[in-house]
Amino acid sequence: MRLPDFKVEQWMNVYENDAVYNLTDTCVSPLTFGELTAMDSEQSLSDLKLDYGTITGDVHLKKEILSLYQSGTIDNITLMQGCLQANESVIYTLLSPGDKVIVFEPGYQQFADLPRSIGCDVISLKLYEENGWQPDVNELEEAMKQKIRMIIVNQPANPTGVLFEKAYCEKMIELATKQGTYILSDEVYRGLADEASISDLYEKGISTSSLSKIFSLAGLRLGWIKGPQEVIDQINVRRDYSIISTGPLADRLACIALKNKEAILSRSRAIISANQKVIAAFLDAHPRFHLVMPKAGTVGFLGYDAEIDDTMLAEQLLKKEGVFFVPGSCFGSEKHLRLGFTCDCETMRTGLEKLNEFLENL
Ligand SMILES: Cc1ncc(COP(=O)(O)O)c(C=O)c1O
Repeated sequence: MRLPDFKVEQWMNVYENDAVYNLTDTCVSPLTFGELTAMDSEQSLSDLKLDYGTITGDVHLKKEILSLYQSGTIDNITLMQGCLQANESVIYTLLSPGDKVIVFEPGYQQFADLPRSIGCDVISLKLYEENGWQPDVNELEEAMKQKIRMIIVNQPANPTGVLFEKAYCEKMIELATKQGTYILSDEVYRGLADEASISDLYEKGISTSSLSKIFSLAGLRLGWIKGPQEVIDQINVRRDYSIISTGPLADRLACIALKNKEAILSRSRAIISANQKVIAAFLDAHPRFHLVMPKAGTVGFLGYDAEIDDTMLAEQLLKKEGVFFVPGSCFGSEKHLRLGFTCDCETMRTGLEKLNEFLENL
């Protein structure tokens, strides 16, 4: 089966290394190996046996992951090499050709194109910027007059940063319950505010996440799925064919990170809120830009008013000024740039001023 290019990942692969001012990264500024291991000076890594480890994931680590949720047991969790793989596993395990799937746009391409690649019928519902990037509940009700196998959400979302309103979530769960529809929620950006998890709210809710974004540890490639046990059991069968285990080294390091989650998350909150202050001041001073400031997550979707399309803008801005953005077209929405709140403030301030000057001089 052939997959189309994953636009945002391709863009990052091709251009990221040329960035002087990276204003688009979704991962909070990464921790080093030394910074992470210093959080647990009692345990030495040198006696760690590098066998496969516990196949579906170290029990201590699963318990730490469980502490991020309000319900379930460790049997509701299986480990993955990142959230992307967690999503892929859920999609390949539960979907078949002809199944109908609801996704939201602008959004992360994996949610639509992976189901499409296996012959699913993908129904894309719009997120409305004028309504704070919220979807329209009437459109959901209309779509769910058909038999829907899975709804895929991303809470908080990339690139819009939106968290669906409570009333919308309740309606979605009510409609899904009637049909037995699965709700897969990519929650890789969840955990900085007090966001609920779909796996705590709905019996057919499946949450995927990882340590990549708010935990600043993308290089560990450590993610997980939390969901109904029968789904986890099916995924574990598939897992035996693909990854076997995440391995004791990643499991041990992930365990250190989660044991110290308060310290890591308060670092992330500080970085994000400092960036958001810089951005808010920039928006006040420059009315040609607009942004729905997210309540959670690490990214927002910056709109601009100028006669240049977003792909050309992102390319020229990088080439001439070293300022790096992913263009909105990679997520299905033009005249926008994906803005990460993850770099240091001086980089953010300078990068945004360079963006403004570039548009002034067009
Ligand atoms: C919505 C979403 N899910 C998953 C991922 C990938 O996460 P991981 O590094 O855990 O595979 C990304 C990365 O940008 C993302 O934006």
